[in-house]
Amino acid sequence: MDDEEILRRLREARGTDPSYVGGRIVSSVSTEPLPVSLEAYRIYSDVNALDTYLFPSVKILEAEVIAWLGSLLRNPEAAGYVTTGGTESNIEALYAAKKLFPERKKIVAPKSAHYSIYKAADLMGLRVEWTDLDRNYRADAASIRKAIDKDTLAVVATAGTSALGMVDPLEEINESCDEVFFHVDAAFGGFVLPFTGTKRIDYGLRNLDSVTIDPHKMGMTPIPSGSVLFRDSTYLEALSYTPAYIPVESSTLCGSRSGGSIAAVWVAIKSLGFDGYKRIVDKCMENTHFLCDELAGIEGASLVTEPDINIVGISLKAPEKTCTRLRDLGWGVALNRDIGCIRFVVMPHVSKEVISRFTVDLAETIKKK
Ligand SMILES: Cc1ncc(COP(=O)(O)O)c(C=O)c1O
Repeated sequence: MDDEEILRRLREARGTDPSYVGGRIVSSVSTEPLPVSLEAYRIYSDVNALDTYLFPSVKILEAEVIAWLGSLLRNPEAAGYVTTGGTESNIEALYAAKKLFPERKKIVAPKSAHYSIYKAADLMGLRVEWTDLDRNYRADAASIRKAIDKDTLAVVATAGTSALGMVDPLEEINESCDEVFFHVDAAFGGFVLPFTGTKRIDYGLRNLDSVTIDPHKMGMTPIPSGSVLFRDSTYLEALSYTPAYIPVESSTLCGSRSGGSIAAVWVAIKSLGFDGYKRIVDKCMENTHFLCDELAGIEGASLVTEPDINIVGISLKAPEKTCTRLRDLGWGVALNRDIGCIRFVVMPHVSKEVISRFTVDLAETIKKK
């Protein structure tokens, strides 16, 4: 088969799935990457970011990315790296916690934490004590305080939970973390909250040790591109390993790493800057409020809770049936089985027009019973 034909088949395969441009993907934390960021990925796609002795330029790009993300969190000392995404970042952060407290075996995390926390614990022979949520689905700080004991190595909180986008009470939780490692998973909210300024997430929280922030969610970069940021370089130094066969020091969970991911993030932040991201986030928040207003007029649909960011839980009487029907109409929606709601993520490709079409279909679907 010649390349032309192979690519034709590939495009055909891709064409069978929905695209972001059509606007019907409304339950995903991904969006169409910035074209210039995609091009950056291509330019650096043959660069292995492990081999910094061969490709020193990628090290410089990554340092600039980490410095910029550090500035978002008001920490010029922040040290970290570009990961494959939130899962790797969370595992790396908890790996650093384990290095700090090798004797301790317990992680304390609210029930709303991402499932990668369970994976990290399971991989490292640790256990998770899952703590309660308040009635708005945020972590209950008192439950966390109670769960912390001498065996606790880390506490995890989330800034933008996967299910509902809720921001845990970070300042209150921080107060309980004097003796333990404190990790904040801001995989989604990390590219939202610094631009809305509505909820604080920064290293002014004195016990904060590490933060997960994913550019490949609200940062407009291609997958894979996540990041983990530690308070300073000592955490990574503790994880450092020097293989005998190459002249590099590696503190990253993965060995070979895509230079493409690093270049893609570098270009996105140069292209958009703080103001560009703020414009995108402001629009998403404006559209989130528009969605909430539209939902208020639909009988049989309601908000699970007032959203903290651009993720909305839509509570329904017959969630499974409604979700299936919406999917039949071509909507890319996902059902949350625990809460019995649809998760609607107001990503940059979800315009007011898309929201209007969705709410019309939702209202008609509910009426049909
Ligand atoms: C809060 C949070 N943390 C971590 C992750 C995992 O990210 P990834 O899928 O990039 O590994 C997600 C994914 O949606 C998330 O919402």
